[in-house]
Amino acid sequence: MPSILSVPVRALGTVDSFGMLFSQYSSNFKTLDDILAVIGLIFVGRIALSAVWNICVGIRSMFWSRLWKKNFEKRYGGKWAVVTGCTDGIGKAYCHELAKDGLNIVLISRSMDKLNAVAEELKSQHGVETEVVQANFVEGETLYPRIDKHLQGKEISVLINNVGVMISHPKYYDEVTDFEMWSHINVNMASMAVMTKLILPGMLKKNKGAIVNIASIAATGPIPLLGIYAASKAFVEFLSLSMNSEYYWGHRGITIQTVTPAYVSTNMTSFSKWTHTPNPATPTPAQFAASAVSTIGYTDFTTGFWAHGIMKWIVDLMPRAVYMTFMKMQHMFLRSTVKNLHTS
Ligand SMILES: NC(=O)c1ccc[n+]([C@@H]2O[C@H](COP(=O)([O-])OP(=O)(O)OC[C@H]3O[C@@H](n4cnc5c(N)ncnc54)[C@H](OP(=O)(O)O)[C@@H]3O)[C@@H](O)[C@H]2O)c1
Repeated sequence: MPSILSVPVRALGTVDSFGMLFSQYSSNFKTLDDILAVIGLIFVGRIALSAVWNICVGIRSMFWSRLWKKNFEKRYGGKWAVVTGCTDGIGKAYCHELAKDGLNIVLISRSMDKLNAVAEELKSQHGVETEVVQANFVEGETLYPRIDKHLQGKEISVLINNVGVMISHPKYYDEVTDFEMWSHINVNMASMAVMTKLILPGMLKKNKGAIVNIASIAATGPIPLLGIYAASKAFVEFLSLSMNSEYYWGHRGITIQTVTPAYVSTNMTSFSKWTHTPNPATPTPAQFAASAVSTIGYTDFTTGFWAHGIMKWIVDLMPRAVYMTFMKMQHMFLRSTVKNLHTS
């Protein structure tokens, strides 16, 4: 039977043996130091190597590519580019960059007056042909046979899956309206999946073509208060990367590029001056597209803009818990700066 006194005596024994253990280990501390030094070296070496690699890829895709521009028609086998969500922001700027290269553009977006205005701009500034297709991607599945009819008989070299929406400002999920939720599914996710289904088979036949999928840096991880947007962009990124890998061998004439921009000064980011005012980290759509279009054919995965590349490298290094805490704080701050905030 253990006496009451034996408990502290045993505890003392444990402490004593721990002390012995500690003194034994501490005599090996030099070895432990060495192990820690090697682990530290591997960790720092990995970061340094990834920095050097990213700088080389960045220089090649964002600076070198501007000196040696590709002829899209010749390289991707067709006179036409198709751009979704093309009447404003990044999509419109992509249209101008592709038209500068001599490509005719099929413009697909929802506002007829804006479509006609962009078509006129492209014709008068770049002398290219255009075709407009009024389409509201919110409609979903029933929309695509009509788009398909417009694409028949055209030699398509480039598809830009750009159309996208974002909740009006950072909000909690219960505040996201049903319309916003379905729009993220139909506009951000379904449009990219279905437009690719329509156009990819023709590209595979001639083994030439480029498909550019505009995802977002928001797809790096879950983003509190912007959850549905981040999740929809993760869908775009995953499908785009999977397709790129599927067709990498055997279809070297096909480029499937994933673009993950950070903030660009467009209508989408106009909810706060912090996300909308142009600065070196927040380019205008024209600055962004000039850089991003030149990367097509040079890299299959890019942020499209040098400053966004640095941001992406930093967020990729963060452990997920740190990233999510940081994102939550950032989006709570942005929410607090939204003018006339309505929570319903
Ligand atoms: N801006 C950024 O900071 C940023 C960052 C990362 C990724 N992105 C992505 O880049 C893409 C373009 O964004 P943006 O900032 O350029 O957006 P934006 O300025 O709001 O322009 C969106 C374009 O898509 C069209 N559109 C919107 N909803 C549509 C619908 N239901 N059906 C058909 N067309 C529709 C708009 O047409 P209307 O002219 O009729 O409105 C407009 O032409 C999106 O996929 C977005 O997620 C943007």
